[in-house]
Parts: sequence; structure tokens; C-alpha cells
Amino acid sequence: MSLSRKAVLTLAGNRAVTSLVSKYGMKWGAARFVAGETLDQTIETVKKINADGLLVTLDHLGESVSNREEALEATQAALDIFDAIEESGVISNVSVKLTQLGLDIDKDFCLENMDRITAKAKEKNNFVRIDMEDSPRLQVTIDIFNTLVDKYGKEHIGLVIQSYLYRSENDVLALGKKNVNLRIVKGAYKEPAEVAFPNKKDVDDNYVKLVKLHLQNGCYTAIATHDETIINLLKDWLKEKQIPDNLYEFQMLYGVRNELQRQLVREGYKVRVYTPYGKDWYPYFTRRIAERPANALFVLKSFFQK
Ligand code: FDA
Repeated sequence: MSLSRKAVLTLAGNRAVTSLVSKYGMKWGAARFVAGETLDQTIETVKKINADGLLVTLDHLGESVSNREEALEATQAALDIFDAIEESGVISNVSVKLTQLGLDIDKDFCLENMDRITAKAKEKNNFVRIDMEDSPRLQVTIDIFNTLVDKYGKEHIGLVIQSYLYRSENDVLALGKKNVNLRIVKGAYKEPAEVAFPNKKDVDDNYVKLVKLHLQNGCYTAIATHDETIINLLKDWLKEKQIPDNLYEFQMLYGVRNELQRQLVREGYKVRVYTPYGKDWYPYFTRRIAERPANALFVLKSFFQK
């Protein structure tokens, strides 16, 4: 992990910084990465994104809840998204984080909540993806995912794998045997060198390797990166290997590389925008700053423009 990314993530955990940014951050610039505070507002934004030919995955922000009530509220929020998608007719699926659904409180309780969400995804003929969080939660996340794939099938639920982890190649191989839908990302958390490649080049190389591996195993792959070098390299490879269009999509974050998102659509690729909303945007926002500290300048600039 680069020094600046580590520094931003450490600073973001500082209490004084947390309270200051939580109070003023949305005004200062979090709105660039967060579509809105309410679902209604956000559905209007999704309509505009869809109008540009992009698909969406909606994420009700929140993670690491500390009591059952909050986890049940978060579960309800995810269930509500499926209804809002159906009622509004927007083209979107849903992404969730297990710590938001009570993973740190009780694994079985979290599984019950995720089970309700997966059942709803199936009922609405839609799809839910479990985001991947930090490495201590990885195995339990895979276990919950596998339980639900066995119960509901692979059409309505997917998972995320992070290329910065040494173990991910084995995970992709194992999950490939179930032919499941994976989103491959580089990884956004602060991880020690015991579990994750410290050098960016290794993370990037592993990224390309994992995408190719999953696709060559005939499994649906969401190529989630803003890295243009990697995107171009994979575009050539997809053509060369004649990988069918219905086996993959590109994904990017709301507010990041907007022009590239639209360019890929113009070239005929399927592109989905990960669109977060809600009041609990602070941890998500700080990870976006950590990925690109230049974003902090953007935030400061929007502060002075007020
Ligand atoms: P990299 O960080 O190398 O950036 C490549 C280029 O992209 C940069 O040079 C810059 O131009 C641009 N860029 C990247 N990040 C930017 C930013 N924040 N602002 C502006 N420009 C930026 N992680 C995780 O651990 N678990 C998860 O479940 C997910 N889910 C997820 C979904 C989707 C759709 C995406 C796109 C990403 C995630 N991530 C994630 C985050 C992921 O792990 C990673 O941190 C970011 O995507 C940044 O890495 P890149 O692949 O874009 O490359």
C-alpha cells in the first residue's frame, strides 16, 4: 500500500477528523461520490445515469453497525431499494456490506438478514452483490455467500474478490467451480503485508490475472476498475479470446472517470455505475480520498467555492 493511501486511511480514523468531516463533508465535496441522502433523490439520479446508457448498482451506505436494531434497519433499507427499482422502472441492482447487516454482532443473525435480501432479489428477478470488506471478515463473507448460492442459485447473488490479497487466486478458482458471478476489484482497505501485496504493480498484475482466470473458467465477471491501462489491455484480450459480451461488464464508481464510463458505452460495452447514497457516507468517502489524495484538493476547492 502506498504511503499516502495509508496516511489518509489512518487520518480518517482520527476522532476529531471524523467529527469535523462528518459535519461538513457533504457540503465540502462528498456529493461528488455520493448520489444523495435519500432513496427518492437517488432514484432521480439513477434515471439520469440510465439515460446515458449506463446501468447502476445501488448501495445504501453504512457499515460496522453496533446493534441489532441498526442492522435490521439496514436490511429493510436494502429490501426497500428493490421495491423502488421496480416502481420507478430504473435499471439497477443492489450492493450490500455484511457489517451493515450485523456481521460483527452475530454471524447467524447477519446470515438471516442477507437471506431475506437474497430472497427479495430472487422474488423481484433482480440481483444483489455482497461487497468485500477487510481481510478479517473475508472467510465468513465467503461462507455466507456460499450458503446463499446453494439455497437460491447463482443468478441472484454475487460476490467481490480483491486482487491485493495473496489468497484471491485460490478463492477465484474455488468460486469458479460454482460458476458464480464475481466483481474483481483491486481492494480498498488498509491491509498488512502478511495478507496483501505491498506493491501496486503486483496488485495490478494480479488484477488482470484474476479477471482472465474467472472469464476463462466461463464465469460472469464484473471488471471493476478505473485503471485505463488495465481496461485497454483487457479490451484487447476480450476481443482476441472472443469472450462473449454476455459474460462480463465494466463497473466504475459514481463520480469517478465519468467520461471514460460514457466512452465505453459508446464503444458498445455494458457499464454499471456503483451508486452509493445515504447519510452514513463518511467511511466510503475517506476510502475514495485515500485512493487518490488529489481528490482531497477537489474537496478543499469546493469548500472555498461555497
Ligand atoms: P487505481 O487505484 O490504480 O486507479 C487507477 C486510476 O483510476 C487512477 O490513476 C485515477 O485516474 C482513477 N481513480 C481511481 N480511484 C479514483 C478515485 N477515488 N477518484 C478519482 N479517480 C480515481 N473495494 C473493496 O475493497 N471492496 C469492494 O467491494 C469494492 N467494490 C467496488 C465496486 C466498484 C464498482 C469499483 C469500481 C470499485 C470497488 N472497490 C471495492 C474499490 C476498489 O478496490 C479500488 O479501491 C478502486 O476501484 C480504485 O482502484 P482502481 O482499480 O480504480 O485503480
